[in-house]
Amino acid sequence: MSITIDLSGECALVTGAGAGIGAEIARWLARAGAHVAVHDIREKEASSVVTSILREGGRAFAVVANARDDAALTGMIDDVADRFRGRLTIAVNNIGMYGEFSPGPFTELDGDHWRGLLEQNIVITALAGAAEARHMIASGGGVILNVSSGETTRPAPFMSAYAAAKAAINHLTQTMAVELGPYGIRVVAIAPGTTMTETVVEVLDQDHVDALVDATPLRRMTEFDELARLSVFLVSDLARCITGQLILADAGAHLSRSRPANRSASKND
Ligand SMILES: NC(=O)c1ccc[n+]([C@@H]2O[C@H](COP(=O)([O-])OP(=O)(O)OC[C@H]3O[C@@H](n4cnc5c(N)ncnc54)[C@H](O)[C@@H]3O)[C@@H](O)[C@H]2O)c1
Repeated sequence: MSITIDLSGECALVTGAGAGIGAEIARWLARAGAHVAVHDIREKEASSVVTSILREGGRAFAVVANARDDAALTGMIDDVADRFRGRLTIAVNNIGMYGEFSPGPFTELDGDHWRGLLEQNIVITALAGAAEARHMIASGGGVILNVSSGETTRPAPFMSAYAAAKAAINHLTQTMAVELGPYGIRVVAIAPGTTMTETVVEVLDQDHVDALVDATPLRRMTEFDELARLSVFLVSDLARCITGQLILADAGAHLSRSRPANRSASKND
């Protein structure tokens, strides 16, 4: 007997899927058979992910919107649901990271930094989740997967605002699961370890990468496909009893007491 994951017939949206982890999740959802809406603020990047999916024989289309514009975000989700004839069955809220901000010491973070990171992470995830859930309630259910971070499970020096905003996603995931469960909607979250996306490569120097690897039980970073495989499992029927859970995929990094500080990000060093 073999076990396969078949998402054919499922209609999925992945936000921020023009690059990095979101792009890989979109590709793997399509490989499992889902029809995928690839969202990003960058049209060229979203289209290029769609092209790679179509080339493999999958089904996908691109949608462009700035998720920090509430009306544009909600409008994009409504458009995607329309294109799926009302059946949005899988939604991955992947947008996050730093936007135009950079990691830095707690004592140097100003209000713009705090508000910016809360918006980029928890506010976008919450507003997207609400719009997605409205469609899922109307069509009889679905799965929402929020992308959190391994940095929510331990102190994260120089990343205080980011980690706090991501920790809010963990709590939101539980509350959404309780409110939306009766409508047949599961809500789960993944917590990736450090993954070498374009954005991360820009802020990590080699010494910091070495320190992270040394502090990680499996002595390596997290790979893109590992997060995508986990996501495919969580949105599939194999995980049908799982809701309100945060699943860590970080090569064990959460077991070290504190993330090694990225001192290269300190304006004082
Ligand atoms: N890379 C890591 O090490 C890591 C670790 C833990 C958690 N995460 C989380 O994983 C998720 C993806 O991270 P990533 O490193 O792949 O990100 P990334 O920055 O590499 O890519 C994110 C994509 O989102 C798009 N995007 C950003 N802001 C947008 C907006 N306002 N509207 C529309 N599109 C927007 C970007 O254009 C980009 O294509 C984030 O939530 C991040 O916080 C990443």
